[in-house]
Amino acid sequence: MGPPKHVPEPRAADIGRIERQLRQRRERLKELERLDCFHTVPTEELEGLIDLGTFRAFPIHKTIIHERDQRDFLYILLQGSVRLVLHDKEGHEVLMGILDRGDCYGVGALFGDFFRRSGAYTETDCYVLQLPLVDVRALLATAPVLHTVFRQLYMQRMAEFTLVRVPLFSHLLPVERMALVRSIKSKHYPRGSVVVQQNEPADALYLIESGQVIVEEYDQAIATLNEGDFFGEMALLSHEPRAATVRTLTPADILILPAEAFHLLLAEHPGLKARFQDVLTQRRSAGKRLRDDQGQMERLNQIVQHGLLRGSHLLIRTPELCPPGCRICEEACTARHGNTRLHLNGVLLGSQDILSACRQCHVGAECMEACPEDAFAWDDRGALHITDACTGCGECIPACPYEAVDRVPRTGDIGQQTLVQRFNPIQYIRGLGRYSIPLEATGHSHRADKCDLCHGHEDLACLSACPTGSLRLVPVEEVLPI
Ligand code: CMP
Repeated sequence: MGPPKHVPEPRAADIGRIERQLRQRRERLKELERLDCFHTVPTEELEGLIDLGTFRAFPIHKTIIHERDQRDFLYILLQGSVRLVLHDKEGHEVLMGILDRGDCYGVGALFGDFFRRSGAYTETDCYVLQLPLVDVRALLATAPVLHTVFRQLYMQRMAEFTLVRVPLFSHLLPVERMALVRSIKSKHYPRGSVVVQQNEPADALYLIESGQVIVEEYDQAIATLNEGDFFGEMALLSHEPRAATVRTLTPADILILPAEAFHLLLAEHPGLKARFQDVLTQRRSAGKRLRDDQGQMERLNQIVQHGLLRGSHLLIRTPELCPPGCRICEEACTARHGNTRLHLNGVLLGSQDILSACRQCHVGAECMEACPEDAFAWDDRGALHITDACTGCGECIPACPYEAVDRVPRTGDIGQQTLVQRFNPIQYIRGLGRYSIPLEATGHSHRADKCDLCHGHEDLACLSACPTGSLRLVPVEEVLPI
């Protein structure tokens, strides 16, 4: 045995620093415990938040986050007030509300809402706890009370955001919208669910929080409605049975305002009643115009059946501009991606061919929902791409109603892959408190593949290659003016 190792005495300065840090941590914990929203949360769960967060000060009249910015953080307001602003369906700026001490901002992104975004701007000097969303999500897996608290805040915030986006409701005061939220229930409907049945009596007004629905009269599509739209007002206002059936075209989250609460609201706001009446009149005459135009009606049915309204853009081609036998666009796609992700002669609408390719479904994308690996992600351009997390399991392929996803061999022979590529990803084993590298080759010989508007490239290979300008990527409204 050698001489005992010399363990240096801690220096007084170090002890002082550690004591200061501990004192600061206790004070911050107390600060969180005093907030109303956390009064049911056990101390050890709140300690988790303190460990993850950064305490930050924002001066008056500064932007914490813009409406369009990527959401990476959850903020808990400890001091000061913050103005939340977003734009309704018609592009008008609407004050969502003023956040005060104890309010949270960013819970939407915490549970996966990527579409409704508000900007947050300081009204006074503010002091916030800023928490990385990825870490909070991991923490919630082991913090059940905190999870419930954030989930409730999320449900409430989502309902408020939906009301704001309905132009009719965006004129209400924030406190009135909050009161309305208390009467509202949110329900998730899988694709193809009947929400309202023609000829049945009315019991509620429905507001689309996310997803898309189709309105049908005697099995004929007469309209589609999207996030921020409402339906069910006709029967409520006319006291007649439902004029149409409303069915979900995509998985949808829908807010339900019971009939009594709706009538109460109109009694309190006569102006609102007149505006609902205007919508009813417009919809009735639009329905009549459509019924009188058989061609347009068939067009609408085709649009719905092929999911052409599910994204924001479509790849379209004018066949008469294409030289006979030309498939340069398909070939350019293959040259870039190893296989073609688009096919000519998709849906022929008038003189235009809407290519058979991924629709980049903006809400309720079934491929994304079916993926067990969370391997689908949005990019800044609104394209849905498949990340390296894809194992090629193929679950997304039957999930897509438009046959837009393929299973293709991975490029490169598995024998040529690096060690890192060949072995399963490093995993953190919670119980052991350490990382582990499973020594088992992944064998992921295939992967899912679909059009992602050439994610990661500056241009779209097909568009750049088209020699005649026949192929174009256009906003949906340009091709389908309904
Ligand atoms: P209600 O009759 O209560 O139930 C069916 C709903 O479909 C109806 O209210 C409207 O909200 C909606 N609806 C009917 N016709 C149209 C249309 N042409 N455009 C949009 N929505 C419609």
